[in-house]
Amino acid sequence: MNKKIVLSGIQATGRLTLGNYLGAINNWVKMQEEYDCYYMIANLHSLTVRNNPEDLKNNTLKILAIYIAAGLDPEKNTIFIQSQVKEHSELGWILDCYTYMGELSRMTQFKDKSIKHADNINAGLFTYPALMAADILLYQANLVPVGEDQRQHLEITRDIAERFNKLYGKTFVIPDAYVKKESARVMGLQNPESKMSKSATNINDVIFLEDAPEVILKKFKKAVTDSENKIRFEPIQKPGVSNLMQIYSSVTGKTMSDIEKEFEGKGYGDFKITVANSVIEKLKPIQDKYQSILNNQEYLEKIYTKGAENARKVAAKTLNDVKHKIGIL
Ligand code: TRP
Repeated sequence: MNKKIVLSGIQATGRLTLGNYLGAINNWVKMQEEYDCYYMIANLHSLTVRNNPEDLKNNTLKILAIYIAAGLDPEKNTIFIQSQVKEHSELGWILDCYTYMGELSRMTQFKDKSIKHADNINAGLFTYPALMAADILLYQANLVPVGEDQRQHLEITRDIAERFNKLYGKTFVIPDAYVKKESARVMGLQNPESKMSKSATNINDVIFLEDAPEVILKKFKKAVTDSENKIRFEPIQKPGVSNLMQIYSSVTGKTMSDIEKEFEGKGYGDFKITVANSVIEKLKPIQDKYQSILNNQEYLEKIYTKGAENARKVAAKTLNDVKHKIGIL
């Protein structure tokens, strides 16, 4: 039986959030039975913004520990660190030469980050999508689970792959974005109009996966709502309450109408505490495992070494084919 190939990754910049878990990792765990999965930590992409080297290293290992604590089985999936499979950098450069300035300058993430990091608009930030295309195309991935914000990067990946295939004959599988409808798009608690982001300036906007239960409770209690004091799902008019409902729904599996019924006649105070407790309970086993995995550096090293070895076998095959086709010795 030929399983479909899945690849995804998270940048190693900053600590992981509830958004990363509910929007990504939790779905990856569900996909591991059905697909042949590659999950990486995109630490080369992290270089497009300035990092403290020690933080970058620690974050890379922390993310790996979270992947495993959350239930990604290193026996069933290829879990690896991007920088440890050199083929990514190499194909990234080659694909730079098949990607147009015009295409890259239309990327909304580039525009957003250029505003946010106005003092460091580096060439890597600009060519970021070509490296991401390399990540995906090296493994001939069929499906790429990503959030809505990465859809544009998937489109450009497809364009690059199609362009290359047209020039040199079929080389790359054209990947599809896998944006699950019911998978939560977790918004900021203070700023529910935008995505919960690990680089948010307001710490109360974000639940970090490492947050202690009392911190989680405190942050939910402070979450922005509205003055109606009625729990109903209405993302445009009631973004704060709807976001809390979305979180509660994806943690418990309850539907929006279940939740509306459950909290009929109740106020926001009760609701926030219930949501907070559901999150605390969901994260508890992950947090327990996480600490012990993170303390076991030897175990982590074993996993990423084996992951890189497995990944390299596949990546090298694609890269060799590419080099052969374009005349690179
Ligand atoms: N750009 C993605 C993000 O910021 C991370 C990423 C890097 C990625 N390479 C990837 C995601 C390949 C999917 C596939 O979320």
